[in-house]
Amino acid sequence: MGLFIQKVTVDQVYPLRSKVLRPGLAMDSCHYVEDHTIGAFHLAAFVEDVEDPIGIASFYLEKHPQLPAAISYRLRGMAVEPEIQSQGVGSILLTQAIDICQKEGADLLWCNARQTATRFYKKLRFKQYGESFDLPGIGEHFVMYRRLKN
Ligand SMILES: CC(C)(COP(=O)(O)OP(=O)(O)OC[C@H]1O[C@@H](n2cnc3c(N)ncnc32)[C@H](O)[C@@H]1OP(=O)(O)O)[C@@H](O)C(=O)NCCC(=O)NCCS
Repeated sequence: MGLFIQKVTVDQVYPLRSKVLRPGLAMDSCHYVEDHTIGAFHLAAFVEDVEDPIGIASFYLEKHPQLPAAISYRLRGMAVEPEIQSQGVGSILLTQAIDICQKEGADLLWCNARQTATRFYKKLRFKQYGESFDLPGIGEHFVMYRRLKN
């Protein structure tokens, strides 16, 4: 698979974000207010000669209230096209994102992870913080984080 990762505009992530993370809901439901904040960036995975991204993730300069960090990014909207999940696209995308966050000087990356995705994050050396909590309409989540500096 000729895969490449690049920064994209938020408009390019909405269709897959909606399809995978907010199926059956109005497109508005996947517009996050933080999408246009300073420091936010959106990454997408593409295969050659195909216009639409096959994987997406968005990153925001946002601290977690309980996880100390000088510069902290929050990951949201991590999704891979359903037919090609479990083939490594998500891992490649997130690994590249971590590299970008580190180059920006960040020392922490965190997210509210769906319980079903915790194995994915653990494989990428994220740790779980605290107890699970429910996000209404989406389900059980855990705060997960990865320290980016030693
Ligand atoms: C979670 C997700 C982004 C991972 O991307 P991916 O390309 O499927 O992941 P990879 O192929 O790199 O898989 C790495 C690990 O993630 C886990 N994983 C793979 N597919 C998964 C899936 N559909 N759901 C949850 N975890 C999965 C596995 O542990 C896998 O390791 P293994 O192949 O050794 O078993 C993707 O599966 C997805 O979009 N799932 C639905 C939406 C979602 O849950 N997003 C995260 C919200 S917090």
